[in-house]
Amino acid sequence: MIDLSSFPDPLNVAVIGASGGIGKSFVDTMRGHEQVENLYSFSRSAPDSIAMDICDEGSIKKAASSIDKPLHLVIVATGLLHDDGLMPEKNLRDLTSDNMKKIIEINTIGPALVAKYFTPLLPRVGKSVFAALSARVGSISDNALGGWYSYRASKAALNMLIKTISIEVARKNKDAAIIGLHPGTVDTRLSQPFQSHVTPAKLFSTDQSVGYLLNVINNISHKETGKVFAWDSQEIES
Ligand SMILES: NC(=O)c1ccc[n+]([C@@H]2O[C@H](COP(=O)([O-])OP(=O)(O)OC[C@H]3O[C@@H](n4cnc5c(N)ncnc54)[C@H](OP(=O)(O)O)[C@@H]3O)[C@@H](O)[C@H]2O)c1
Repeated sequence: MIDLSSFPDPLNVAVIGASGGIGKSFVDTMRGHEQVENLYSFSRSAPDSIAMDICDEGSIKKAASSIDKPLHLVIVATGLLHDDGLMPEKNLRDLTSDNMKKIIEINTIGPALVAKYFTPLLPRVGKSVFAALSARVGSISDNALGGWYSYRASKAALNMLIKTISIEVARKNKDAAIIGLHPGTVDTRLSQPFQSHVTPAKLFSTDQSVGYLLNVINNISHKETGKVFAWDSQEIES
């Protein structure tokens, strides 16, 4: 059983992006955990979850209003790197306004709106964590390769939002941690086109990554609020 002993018992958890590779693993892990009393899962497509499109503020507001209990752990596991008409840019020539707007709407604006409606549901006292899935490539200081303009920028902006939200939330919720998480390279739809460059040992299963991330979440406190951590607990600098 994954250790969540730093949290109150019983524990209420929300997972946004329940249909995704990492999101589904969070839901399955939390569903089987003895400490979890209430599990709320949100998705625009999974039939057994509460409807939420993170590009539609009204749907986020409505979904949040269906929760009548304090949330000790909120995981935002949504995100986009590519889809049918969109691949990460190899160079500036590939950059288009429409694709960049789409990536930023999903990776940056969506999680910010989720924070707007879900951080007020964190308990006023006792440990709570709001964690958004970010990515190491959102680190400006770590950018040695270039490329992936929109995705990098969307995650760098997400990291700034996490820091800024953490400052506001700390005024009311002294025990809360607002953090970003880099899950490693994980075997999901999102990483699928890029997996050939990854050695098998560095390509995590979704359950493996979620186990690592829950370990990070259990070990952090309000003292780490505003920061971004990788799966191995290392802080990722901006
Ligand atoms: N996999 C990796 O190697 C890796 C590495 C670094 C960071 N990350 C980050 O980890 C997070 C999860 O990625 P993943 O690998 O699990 O990807 P995934 O399997 O493609 O899942 C993405 C999730 O985002 C949801 N989503 C996209 N747009 C949405 C919208 N408008 N409203 C609601 N949900 C929406 C998808 O819902 P639908 O099913 O409805 O499309 C899906 O549940 C992302 O933020 C990603 O950037 C992943």
